[in-house]
Amino acid sequence: MAILTSTDLREEILALKKERNAIILAHNYQVGPIQDIADYVGDSLGLAYRAKETDADVIAFCGVHFMAETAKIVNPEKIVVLPDKDAGCSLEQSCPAEELEAFLRENAEKNYYVIAYINCSAGVKALCDVICTSGNAVRIVEAAPADRPILFVPDQNLGEWVIAQSGREMDLWQGACYVHVEFTRESIAKIREDHPNAAVVAHPECTTAVRLLADEVCSTEKMISFCRNSPSQDIIVVTESGMLHRLRKEVPGKNLIAGPTDRCACADCRYMKMNTLEKLHDCLRDLTPQVTMPEEIRQRAEAPLLRMLELSK
Ligand code: 13P
Ligand code: SF4
Repeated sequence: MAILTSTDLREEILALKKERNAIILAHNYQVGPIQDIADYVGDSLGLAYRAKETDADVIAFCGVHFMAETAKIVNPEKIVVLPDKDAGCSLEQSCPAEELEAFLRENAEKNYYVIAYINCSAGVKALCDVICTSGNAVRIVEAAPADRPILFVPDQNLGEWVIAQSGREMDLWQGACYVHVEFTRESIAKIREDHPNAAVVAHPECTTAVRLLADEVCSTEKMISFCRNSPSQDIIVVTESGMLHRLRKEVPGKNLIAGPTDRCACADCRYMKMNTLEKLHDCLRDLTPQVTMPEEIRQRAEAPLLRMLELSK
């Protein structure tokens, strides 16, 4: 079998994309070559809107499974493929649908209004009232009915940040992103010692101790405008390492600091990094692995997703 160069591979992917009438959507944490070939690169919220709007027949979703699943929920008639079917998410794993269902049953008298961070399975989405992303979480919580207690699942760190921003009490599921909880206040403070004038931007999945050090806490998409508009020349970026590719491309004038080795304030998500150009090529060629789910779950998961899209317009 002939070995493809990266240029051949890119050309083949573009040819397959045309042949399949496909769109390539990529999250900001994907490897550079995938971001560079994608039709759209963004955060979970932007990707959900793009998935909803597209008239392509096939969506090749380069991100993690819950993101591709979200695209399928709003596009039951389209084929949704993702390069690696094992690209999961520690937040999704921290909240199995059966556990949430049992918890809601045991606490039925509370009549919880359930808000689910989009980093969860279709089964969990089907059990909640509305979805949110890091880009609209505060807004979604502020729009929740005042006369019902809120249960926020699955990310306790994002939940704590939203409580601080909105002043609204919530009961929090104890899930966490295994990448963002690894950053420590000490490691970020140490990088700051070497760059005393640097601004710090962090993702809300970080712990409170780290978030308190940050000048801005925001979604990956908002990191682009923060870095572009910040008066600081040096910016310490506290999130997954894929973010640096887009930032360095779109905000070339700034010194974006990920630590002495690109690993102190930025770390790899092993799930995001499972996708490669080769796997993207193969999934477009073979139309597999495809995202599927029972129609009953899909319909129940669609309502809270559409509510979110409507509320964040
Ligand atoms: P964003 O929606 O901010 O891109 O976050 C997604 C994510 O998985 C962060 O770990
Ligand atoms: Fe999930 Fe964390 Fe990876 Fe984001 S970075 S996909 S929250 S494990």
